[in-house]
Formats: sequence, C-alpha cells, structure tokens
Amino acid sequence: MLTRQIPSSGEHLPVIGLGTWQVLDVADPNASPALTEVLSAFHAGGGRLIDSSPMYGNSERSVGVLTQQSGHADDFFYATKVWTTGKNEGIRQLENSFRLMQRSTIDLVQIHNLVDWQTQLKTLQEWKEAGRIRYIGITHYLSDMHDELEKMIRTVPMDFVQFNYSITDRNAEQRLLPVAAEHGVATIINRPLDVGKIFSKVHNTTLPGWCAEYGITTWSQFMLKYIISHPAVTSVIPATANPAHMKDNVAAGHSIITDQKVLTRMVELVTSL
Ligand SMILES: NC(=O)c1ccc[n+]([C@@H]2O[C@H](COP(=O)([O-])OP(=O)(O)OC[C@H]3O[C@@H](n4cnc5c(N)ncnc54)[C@H](OP(=O)(O)O)[C@@H]3O)[C@@H](O)[C@H]2O)c1
Repeated sequence: MLTRQIPSSGEHLPVIGLGTWQVLDVADPNASPALTEVLSAFHAGGGRLIDSSPMYGNSERSVGVLTQQSGHADDFFYATKVWTTGKNEGIRQLENSFRLMQRSTIDLVQIHNLVDWQTQLKTLQEWKEAGRIRYIGITHYLSDMHDELEKMIRTVPMDFVQFNYSITDRNAEQRLLPVAAEHGVATIINRPLDVGKIFSKVHNTTLPGWCAEYGITTWSQFMLKYIISHPAVTSVIPATANPAHMKDNVAAGHSIITDQKVLTRMVELVTSL
C-alpha cells in the first residue's frame, strides 16, 4: 500500500486506514468472526491506522480485543479521541482509552469535534511531552466547521487534523486541504463514503471501462482513490464490518491518479448520477 509522510515527524502512514464508528460498537467482538477477518484483511493489505473514540460505544474495547488477538498488535497505528469537558474528566477518559485499547502508548489522540479544546489541548501537550501519546490532532465532520478548523491550523500547534471529504462533498479542496499542507499538518479523512450513502447514488450504474486503466475495479475504490489522489491527504479511514469490503478498500491504496483531467472526469460522472 502507498504511504504518505506525517509532516511533523517524517514517519510514513499507509493511505488507507480503518474507521470504527458503529462497525466496532459491539458487545463482544468475538461473537462476530467477520470482525476478526476485517482486521486480518486490513493488516494483510498493509493497513495500519485504526481510528476510534470514546464516543463510539464499545469500539475502543473492540479495537483492544481484536488487535491483541491478531498477533500483530504492535504493527497498528492507534488513534482515538478525547470527547468531554473539564480537565479531570478528560484525563479520566484518556486513562480509560489506554485501558480499553490495551496500549501503554497511543499514537494519536484527537480532540473530538473540538469539544472543550482549550482544556483538552493542554493535557494532550503534557501527555505528548511525557511520551504517553505521540501525536495530537483535532477533528470535525461537518463542512460548516472547516473555517474553524482552518483557523486552528493557523494558530494552534498540532500534528493532525481530521475532517470530512468525499467526491460528493469537496468543500475541503477549497481551503482546508491546501492550508493543512502549507502548515505541515497531516490530514485524516472521515466520512469518505458519505456514511455508505454514496452507494445508493451509484448502485444502478456500471463502472465505466476507462476505470480499469487506473486500477479501479469497484465503486468504493473509485471514491477512495479520488480522495487519496489529493496530495494533501495523508490517510482516509472508511469504516467497514465486512471482510470483502475491507479487501476492496485496501486495494484502493495501491495507486493514485495524477492526471487532473481524469479526476475532473470522475467528479463529472458522480455529479451526473
Ligand atoms: N468527528 C469525528 O471525529 C468523526 C466523524 C465521523 C466519522 N469519523 C471517523 O471516520 C470513519 C469513517 O466515517 P463513517 O464511518 O461515518 O462513514 P464511511 O466510512 O463514509 O462509510 C461507512 C459505510 O460504508 C460502507 N462501506 C465501507 N466500505 C465499503 C465497500 N467497499 N463497499 C460497500 N460499502 C462499504 C460500510 O458498510 P459495511 O460495514 O457493510 O462495509 C458503512 O456502512 C468513522 O468510522 C470514524 O472513525 C470521525
């Protein structure tokens, strides 16, 4: 799988990651063998970044259980979030994430939807200095908040920014992606498949023949390859609980499209549906 550099460190991160909202919010991850297969297909395909949050019910716990059972626990790049108000409550939540994800170090902690960010940022900076976390980030999922994210990139030191971007919602192309690149902030793309709604848009349409030339064999690869082809995207995190979909998604990370005319053609096609 292709990788992109995290600007603040130079470390390489594979371009396709794994989102866990809803898909890993299960009482017992072992009750569904498909989830073990998802993780194994993700790892075998070169995927490393797993994104969770205390907001996602049992997801952090499932991440801990499944990665420990995988035999590759130390290969993954663990990202979670802090999503609460107040310093003490933030610390309590962080300690809980370490316990649930079964890590002594978490690679990336992001401030979820900017909740009480001034308070939580101080704690994250202290924990980064102490070596408990490696990177700090912020997240949101609404295009209406892109201006706010942009303002923060310009004024607050951070390693990562996570936000929504898809072929059907390209607002991030206007300013957010270029500003992140200009300020050396890595980007993680959420809602890349518009929470799955993108598939109802294309479900009666056959992929055009020219897609094969660019290594695109499914609609998911079409959508994901469009995103990773943007040079300011570090990693995209489609969520799935389906092993076949996981294999499909990691395959999108084998190449990007550099011809702007082809990317424009992709947008025109999806817009016309
Ligand atoms: N504020 C925030 O920080 C924030 C907000 C939103 C999201 N996120 C993060 O971003 C991640 C991704 O966003 P999302 O989960 O909202 O939506 P998404 O990744 O855009 O879409 C997920 C949906 O797409 C389907 N899917 C995935 N791969 C597929 C494939 N190859 N073929 C057909 N269907 C496929 C999944 O169903 P199957 O299970 O059937 O494959 C699932 O229903 C989240 O899980 C979370 O980690 C963060």
